[in-house]
Amino acid sequence: KDAAGKDPSVPAAAEPWKVGAYLSLSGAETQFGIETKEGIELAVDEVNKKGGVKGRPVKVLYEDNKSNPQETNNKVLQLITRDKVVALLGEVASSRSTIGGIVANKHKIPMITSSATAPEVTQIGPFVFRVCFTDDTQGQMGAEFVVKTMGKKRIGILYASDDVYSSGLAAQFRDAAKKLGGEIVVEKSFIKTETNFTTYINEIRDAKPELVYAPIYYNAMVPIARQAKAAGMPGSMFVGGDGWDAETLLQDAGEEMEGAYFTNHYAPDVPWPNAQIFLKAYKERFKRDPSSLSSLGYDSALLLFDAMGRAKGDTPEAIRDAIAETKNFQGATGTITIDPNRNADKSIVIVQIKNKKFTYFATVNDKAAA
Ligand code: PHE
Repeated sequence: KDAAGKDPSVPAAAEPWKVGAYLSLSGAETQFGIETKEGIELAVDEVNKKGGVKGRPVKVLYEDNKSNPQETNNKVLQLITRDKVVALLGEVASSRSTIGGIVANKHKIPMITSSATAPEVTQIGPFVFRVCFTDDTQGQMGAEFVVKTMGKKRIGILYASDDVYSSGLAAQFRDAAKKLGGEIVVEKSFIKTETNFTTYINEIRDAKPELVYAPIYYNAMVPIARQAKAAGMPGSMFVGGDGWDAETLLQDAGEEMEGAYFTNHYAPDVPWPNAQIFLKAYKERFKRDPSSLSSLGYDSALLLFDAMGRAKGDTPEAIRDAIAETKNFQGATGTITIDPNRNADKSIVIVQIKNKKFTYFATVNDKAAA
């Protein structure tokens, strides 16, 4: 003990680590933000129950960017300059992750996006990471599933032209499907503010595709599924990407979408061991099945805490280096290795909508088997 009667080997007060999370907690993509936050909260509880990171509890400061680009810029700056966070979690969508990523990278604060899949996001610079797969792989896997597994050759595409995720994934799919021998017989795009899709749907129907690839967010997919059904196109004619994964899609268009497949990060019945641990904890706390967003939010936070624990120092730079060195991290969304481009090298799952539930169908780009 020292003169003041304190043991110098024990830190006076275990100052909490401050981590910032910027999310769409209101506005157009609210559900993405809320579900991601739930996953982060579970991860924080889990790590703090185990005594925190290096003996210090973790505190996450949440900021709502209202699904808005300008607010994203403001909130991320605030977390960095006012709150002095050591790392950032967010955003859910590629468009806003790009904005947040630029700010984080400029201030040399490591950022991990849980669910932004557009390749551009991590290309911003050395401080920007992700725990989800990228859309080049997702587009390729979607195309292989459609052309090879389902054996469909005449394909339509419908996407949002003013969204970096949707238009990017559509492009990746288009190239891959053509290379595999598929024919794009019709292609239509809309802008995010549109709500009536009947003109596009009718034009697509009249081109007689066997299947329509629709890499769009759940909030547009709900009216599209309903309007398509009314026009004589069942939801099972659509194949989508991870943007479909929100409880709202099941509630509001589950019936219309019965049988449809999409590429995804997670489903409650995926076969990975840590997925079961997460599922149990999530159900106990939130009384329903988790989405991809929650599982990815959980993985992004746990992977960050793991890196903070391994880091050679407590600075944002040291934490950045430790994130970059992550190998074979066992997450709820599978085994994650951070590659030299700061992307997650991991498996993708094909999920089917069955009885208003997201159901595991198959693993593609299988990393566990590799
Ligand atoms: N991948 C989407 C994007 O990059 C976000 C998303 C992920 C949406 C998972 C739903 C589920 O914008």
